[in-house]
Amino acid sequence: MSDSISLYEITDFAQALALEAGELIRHERDHNTLRTDYKQQTELVTHADIMADEFITGAIRKRFPEHRILSEETMPDLTQAEHIDTPLWVIDPIDGTVNYAYGHPQVAVSIAYAERGQVQAGVVHAPFAGQNGKGETFRATRGDGATLNGQAIRHSNASELRQALFATGFPYTKDALEPLLKRLDAMIHQCRDLRRIGSAALDICWVACGRLDVYYENVSPWDFAAARLIAIEAGAHAGHFGEVPENRPADLWGKDILISAPKLWQPVRDVLREASGY
Ligand code: IPD
Ligand code: CA
Ligand code: CA
Repeated sequence: MSDSISLYEITDFAQALALEAGELIRHERDHNTLRTDYKQQTELVTHADIMADEFITGAIRKRFPEHRILSEETMPDLTQAEHIDTPLWVIDPIDGTVNYAYGHPQVAVSIAYAERGQVQAGVVHAPFAGQNGKGETFRATRGDGATLNGQAIRHSNASELRQALFATGFPYTKDALEPLLKRLDAMIHQCRDLRRIGSAALDICWVACGRLDVYYENVSPWDFAAARLIAIEAGAHAGHFGEVPENRPADLWGKDILISAPKLWQPVRDVLREASGY
């Protein structure tokens, strides 16, 4: 842990940053200053993504100059996740950028803090969600449970695959969709229904609070690092239906992620492994 600061204070700091970044992205959208661009030809990025990323990473650098940062827009070097010697911050300034650009509410700022490859604190703040324009803030500190706007949350406790509501997502690139469609085919035949929400961080937080039963996908560390801890602290089961390479921290490994109500985890893993030919 950082010398003079508790993990709880780290979570408070992350939450303050997420709320302020939420204000920023909300202001940008509400005042019609939304400017969009594309990275790698296909992936949408807005001016607000960059502004929020710069705000969060700048504030972390100022407060913890010795920590490392992995952030989607300004510091996306994934090898950062391999060095576990110094604390690491993992940031997605806007998870759900397509929703953001289309005026949908499922948008989140995600901030995680890891020590020795293990996520210790996570905040996922959805500025457009909830009542009274307050937004919804999911938060967890390892060992201390998970909350939504200060209230403890818990997974759905679902146990029947046939009754399970699951979420997943698809990459922006269209060249490797076939295996993902096979998994979807298997899941949609065996579960109640699918939700494609458009924010991996919120998908996972929604499993954490019982609005969904299952989530699986291939994603980047910034998409899930904070939400995964929130789900674990809410009693959900988090793991992978594929193998995690031996020298990689599972908390930051984004391929074949599976997070669900505990009783559904093994049956869903079996379905996904079979559909993947594992
Ligand atoms: C995306 C969302 C989406 C997931 C994509 C992610 P972005 O993040 O989390 O739900 O399916 O794989 O890239 O681009 O909105 O930050
Ligand atoms: Ca994302
Ligand atoms: Ca993003």
